Amino acid sequence: MIIFFSGTGNSRAVARRLSRFLGDDVYEICGSRATAPGTAALPAFEGGEARRVVWVFPTYSWGVPPVVERFMINVPADEAFASAEHWMVTTCGDDMGREDGMFRNILRRRGWRPAAASFSVIMPNTYTLMKGFDVDSRAVAKHKLAEMPKTVEKIASMIYGRERATDMLVRGGFPWVKTRIVYPWFRRYEMSPKPFRYTAACTACGKCARSCPLDNIKMGASGPEWGADCALCLRCYHICPQHAVAYGSATDGKGQYLCPEN
Ligand SMILES: Cc1cc2nc3c(=O)[nH]c(=O)nc-3n(C[C@H](O)[C@H](O)[C@H](O)COP(=O)(O)O)c2cc1C
Ligand code: SF4
Ligand code: SF4
Repeated sequence: MIIFFSGTGNSRAVARRLSRFLGDDVYEICGSRATAPGTAALPAFEGGEARRVVWVFPTYSWGVPPVVERFMINVPADEAFASAEHWMVTTCGDDMGREDGMFRNILRRRGWRPAAASFSVIMPNTYTLMKGFDVDSRAVAKHKLAEMPKTVEKIASMIYGRERATDMLVRGGFPWVKTRIVYPWFRRYEMSPKPFRYTAACTACGKCARSCPLDNIKMGASGPEWGADCALCLRCYHICPQHAVAYGSATDGKGQYLCPEN
């Protein structure tokens, strides 16, 4: 079983490719299944099915996205789910710090079994909400996307063989500081949906509202209105055909990106 969360499609593309190699079914964390504890309906394992759960999600500030953590903590799970091996595959623009340690802590809280390894896949950057952070140039994004299939194939074969891998995590510099110090700060102070707004370019087409994985956007009289339950996945920002979604002034002059594999 592969369970993924994705804002702009990178993690979805990786999850789908993994599924092609492993033959496991794919489930998406979205809507009420991620927001309302107790409503997630994951199917039971069929007899003979490989007892593994592969979690695929983006890296947020060198840690596990809170929306994924919330889902993992609240999802009802039967005995087979709990006794399965749980793998982590994160997609990140640059590096993932010690996100795998955070993932294992969540597993521990549920009493679930960590698998032999965790993995990261470098994908085009999507974070645009701070000074100095923007999407990658076309050439860099193209290069990362071209490298991805090889990496995913290698990860799939390691998962299939239940191999221990130590070289398939891109931690970057000062990983402990990034995950243990910067992540909690980011989560507390930099994840508010309040600065979201629409610009004069908005045509009120409603695409942002229809696309939000948490159903957090309602269409008002002249444009979208953001609610409080936001994963900061940036799908609404990147998917707008008019580039009319802004986050305060932080996104002024910034680019857009959606994974072309979806
Ligand atoms: C809120 C947020 C925080 C992010 N933080 C990081 C980070 O710490 N390190 C990194 O390499 N990329 C970071 N990124 C980039 C994404 O992890 C990366 O582009 C990922 O592949 C996006 O996956 P998705 O398309 O499935 O949403 C961040 C993106 C967002 C939206
Ligand atoms: S997708 Fe863009 S143009 Fe359409 S309603 Fe949302 S902000 Fe407006
Ligand atoms: S409001 Fe935008 S950033 Fe927040 S969860 Fe919805 S699509 Fe993602």
